[in-house]
Amino acid sequence: MTSTQPTLPIQIRSMCREDLPAVIALDQHSFSLPWPESSYKYELEVNELSRCWVAETSTPDRPATLVAMIVIWLIVDEAHVATIAVHPEYRRQKIAQRLLAHALIDAYHTGAVRSFLEVRRGNEPAIRMYERFGYREVGVRKKYYQDNGEDAVLMDLDPLDLKRLLNLQ
Ligand SMILES: CC(C)(COP(=O)(O)OP(=O)(O)OC[C@H]1O[C@@H](n2cnc3c(N)ncnc32)[C@H](O)[C@@H]1OP(=O)(O)O)[C@@H](O)C(=O)NCCC(=O)NCCS
Repeated sequence: MTSTQPTLPIQIRSMCREDLPAVIALDQHSFSLPWPESSYKYELEVNELSRCWVAETSTPDRPATLVAMIVIWLIVDEAHVATIAVHPEYRRQKIAQRLLAHALIDAYHTGAVRSFLEVRRGNEPAIRMYERFGYREVGVRKKYYQDNGEDAVLMDLDPLDLKRLLNLQ
């Protein structure tokens, strides 16, 4: 799929418990070290620092399908991107970009002034997307990932620029 793909209409809303089967399936399709169901339950029901969002397709003729999710931790004045994924069949349609912009705008209005994340060194699609937001590499955690010993790149976006985020939505 190329970047000239037309923009698919989506609706972004808070994740709820009924979303968990679809969220867990999406997570398993997207990561070599998926989160267990208990982690999503914790984020939804216990962790007060957590903001969990999903994106659904929004076309009048078809039932809504959950195509993406993001979890953000609001730690003091920082929005930490804990996880983000788009279903493989729906990638390169600016869904992650719109979802991340939405989540960061919400974080900004809740008091966040910067953002932070970790990403695998070899995860080119994600790193390219984060760079589009203005995230910069600020450090490395050597051999951070248990499955293949890959390094984690630490990236930050400082400060959060509301105008730029609104343009990426
Ligand atoms: C990373 C991921 C979330 C991107 O989702 P997506 O909806 O396909 O991304 P978008 O369409 O919003 O892309 C926005 C921009 O990011 C960059 N980008 C995204 N995918 C890319 C790819 N495969 N190659 C190069 N650049 C890419 C491009 O700049 C793109 O803009 P463009 O299409 O105009 O060139 C998706 O590939 C995914 O779910 N991967 C598996 C999970 C994962 O790695 N999550 C990140 C954990 S840190």
